[in-house]
Amino acid sequence: MRIGFFDSGIGGLTVLHQTLRFLPNEDYLFYADTRHVPYGEKKKEEVREYIISAVDFIASQNVKALVVACNTATSIVIEELRERYDFPILGIEPAVKPAIEQWEGTEKKVLVLATSLTLKEKKYNDLVHRIDQGEIVDSLPLPGLVQFAESFEFDKNTIVPYLKRELSSFDLGQYGTVVLGCTHFPYFVDSLRSVFPEYVNFISGSIGTAKNLQRILESKDQINQGTGDIIFFKSGEKVEDTLTLSNYHNLFEMLDRLNKR
Ligand code: DGL
Repeated sequence: MRIGFFDSGIGGLTVLHQTLRFLPNEDYLFYADTRHVPYGEKKKEEVREYIISAVDFIASQNVKALVVACNTATSIVIEELRERYDFPILGIEPAVKPAIEQWEGTEKKVLVLATSLTLKEKKYNDLVHRIDQGEIVDSLPLPGLVQFAESFEFDKNTIVPYLKRELSSFDLGQYGTVVLGCTHFPYFVDSLRSVFPEYVNFISGSIGTAKNLQRILESKDQINQGTGDIIFFKSGEKVEDTLTLSNYHNLFEMLDRLNKR
């Protein structure tokens, strides 16, 4: 059986890319809800309905586990999804805890970049309230990065001016770690690096999610010896056109290059 991956768009591929390092012999079904992307700027109730109908579809394809590779969807409905389906469901959350641990007791702060919806949600706010004793966590929504990714716009000449504008009121020297709290953001790590001071560390929750998935499959004795085959769906339609498939392939190559730096 395949492992399902779900996101509003191509952001989830950044999590699947990390997962392939840990579980290269699994087969995957990747579902992007491209008809409704972006989720992060919409109303919670509307997005909740999109997610439930997407996951109903994924469940009908017989998956053995599902990774909700979207911080926004995780913050809205992960508990509800776990009650609704009987396969393991993993989510992804902004990696605030490891970010705080790195800098506790120092002068440096943590900046969480995510979608507006994630940052407004109770799940995120409860998390920060619980662990940010020193009040070192700031946050900023960057919806433009989701739009850029969905239109395959990764050119630094476009992205860096956008980031500089959005960050113009922040004193960037005060941050030690930037949390990539949206799965679309790792595509832009090069541009982000060139805007922040060079000692700044960028982290996301993908590795944690991939390791959890591996642990759960091992504990259920469900590790596959497949081929790493991936089938793609866009809002319920199987992707078969070679241009889209080669675009996805190019994104994996781009992530390979970015991770090597
Ligand atoms: N990739 C998603 C996340 O991690 C959501 C982006 C969007 O659709 O706004 O939050």
